[in-house]
Amino acid sequence: MAADAVVAEGRALVWIPDPTGAVAGRRLEPAWLPVFYNPVMEFNRDLSVVALQAYIDLYAPHKPVTIVEPLTATGVRSVRYALEVEGVGRVIAGDIDPEAVEYAARNVRSNGVEDVVEVRRADASALLYRVSREEGEPVLVVDLDPFGSPAPFMDAALAAIGHRGLLAVTATDLAVLEGSKRRVALRRYHVRIERIPQAREIALRVLLGYAARVAAAHDKALRPLLAYWADHYVRAYMLVERGARAADRMLEECIAMARWCRDLGHPLFEGCPTPTRAPELGPLWACDLGDEDFAARLARLAPERYGYLASIARIKSLVSVLLEELPLSRGRFYYETWALAASLKIDTPSRRGLAEELESRGWRSSPTHLSPAGLRSDAPLVEVVDAAVKLYHHRRGARGPSSRARLEV
Ligand SMILES: C[S@@+](CC[C@H](N)C(=O)[O-])C[C@H]1O[C@@H](n2cnc3c(N)ncnc32)[C@H](O)[C@@H]1O
Repeated sequence: MAADAVVAEGRALVWIPDPTGAVAGRRLEPAWLPVFYNPVMEFNRDLSVVALQAYIDLYAPHKPVTIVEPLTATGVRSVRYALEVEGVGRVIAGDIDPEAVEYAARNVRSNGVEDVVEVRRADASALLYRVSREEGEPVLVVDLDPFGSPAPFMDAALAAIGHRGLLAVTATDLAVLEGSKRRVALRRYHVRIERIPQAREIALRVLLGYAARVAAAHDKALRPLLAYWADHYVRAYMLVERGARAADRMLEECIAMARWCRDLGHPLFEGCPTPTRAPELGPLWACDLGDEDFAARLARLAPERYGYLASIARIKSLVSVLLEELPLSRGRFYYETWALAASLKIDTPSRRGLAEELESRGWRSSPTHLSPAGLRSDAPLVEVVDAAVKLYHHRRGARGPSSRARLEV
């Protein structure tokens, strides 16, 4: 391993394979490395460290927590959990690739966390079933960070996680989750979707909805603590609770079909306001995209304990937007101003102008991390359309007929 490189990430120093043969232009191409390591995902791992600490503080403060990371590659994530999060009892890091297992074991030793992290060569699902079912280890946290889709591992993860446990999932198959590969979406996530302007929110609601339905098969319910889109992936942290009744309630309240109201450029869970051909999308997660207390905890922890993280500024700015948009995410999609304007054949209103107009009418609104031009609001679609049309006419100096009349509502 003479030509290996060492990278510093968080409190860890991590051995990775010689990167010289895996550089395209000035970028490291992680998939070309014999063992996967993606520096772009440092943000994902930094935020994972803070999120795991927030979860332990809020939901598992008095027990040593067992974590399984069954797709570990170099082991960087597991090593960092052991080094940087208080309350971690045991981490089981697995990979099917013997070379990955070698690197992970070496990283565990070189970072001095052998007492906490155990590395095993195993298939991810087999490892999760074995640890939780055969060995009877009470697993509280599972972190799935695969190439592409986590769907093949979801059943084993949700079978393994105990009461009030945490499922953390990354999905990089955005072309599928965002509706560009419709047949794959049906095959992998059992949803019928198409690509719409709010594709990033569709991706989050497909992933959460799929995880929820798999959880229900195990008489478990789940609730998103944090879910976001970034770079080339979506990531979700979900609290898992045991109970058939809770699972029934979750399916009843939080899994729904949406209608793509094409002529208004917006999807709605409650059906479209105009009579139009509106394809169904789903089933999707229809409830909140996260938990305010959890996000508030993250917002406090990040500067207090994790000021040393390379991506601390990005974490703070993401969490502060999430804190604003979370309360407006239940049962509603964000409004994409350019899509609304294109469908109404008007100029795109400024996000801020539209927010102010809605606020003057008594509705709340917030930005969304999903789109710089997008906004969330508790205002119904007809009100947002009316506000956008009013702003347009105002800018052109003439007040046209209210679009509310045109929508006949
Ligand atoms: C994207 S990498 C993991 C990256 C890592 N979690 C990190 O934060 O750097 C995915 C890993 O999953 C492993 N893998 C793929 N299929 C697997 C399976 N069925 N069981 C176990 N490991 C698998 C691959 O060998 C690869 O190392």
